[in-house]
Amino acid sequence: MTLLDIKDLSVFYGKTQALFNCSFSVGEGEFVALLGSNGAGKTTLLRAVSGLLPFKGSVSYAGKALDEISAQTRLARGVAHIPQGRGTFTEFTVEENLSLGATIVGSRSQVKEDKERWYETFPRLRERRNQLAGNLSGGEQQMLAVARALMSRPRLLMCDEPSLGLAPSITQEILAIFKSLNKEAGMTLLVVEQNVDTTLQYADIAFVIEAGQVVASGAASDLIGNEDIKKSYLGVA
Ligand SMILES: Nc1ncnc2c1ncn2[C@@H]1O[C@H](COP(=O)(O)OP(=O)(O)O)[C@@H](O)[C@H]1O
Ligand SMILES: [Mg+2]
Repeated sequence: MTLLDIKDLSVFYGKTQALFNCSFSVGEGEFVALLGSNGAGKTTLLRAVSGLLPFKGSVSYAGKALDEISAQTRLARGVAHIPQGRGTFTEFTVEENLSLGATIVGSRSQVKEDKERWYETFPRLRERRNQLAGNLSGGEQQMLAVARALMSRPRLLMCDEPSLGLAPSITQEILAIFKSLNKEAGMTLLVVEQNVDTTLQYADIAFVIEAGQVVASGAASDLIGNEDIKKSYLGVA
């Protein structure tokens, strides 16, 4: 089943067009990578899907036109977006950040259960549960951003450049967690990355975006070996 269906998506910043008729879809349970060099339009695309930017074209989520689901209720319907730069609340503790992520999830016992689950997944967050998010390392902040998004019990988890500024081993750790959420919990993932080779090791399918257009797509395993695509669009020497 198609969970997210994007057709002819165009986005403008004033008179400047950033996305040009982008079309692709994400099936329920897939781990999809959206790759592209700096300025390609990746962040713009995620922001349009999560309701932060107006767009032209049609986007449907779980069979419903996105226009019919207000930006406020998208989260309640399971669309979670971890922004580029993480967006944790630096003046709040780790634990408070997790609580804030759970605002739409019903009961206290559910929230407690979910925190416990994500502390199991991210033991370093448990150790630092009473520290201010702003005092965590970059890797820990990214983990907190992921855990906070997970507190909303997403069906579609979108993450914008988790690897930005992180050591390769931490990037691998985060992608491995995404992979296990995908395989074990059936969560659908749309991960934006410039870190091509690493991401392709974990994703099932990838779309490549360049200058606001979808220019290539395929099984991640096929793209790993495709030097032409990497040279042409992804700045990989
Ligand atoms: N707030 C903005 N106002 C005007 N142009 C913007 C804004 N944000 C991004 N852009 C432009 O839109 C294009 C796509 O940017 P972005 O989606 O951030 O790319 P990416 O995430 O792939 O690096 C770029 O040309 C960028 O300069
Ligand atoms: Mg970006």
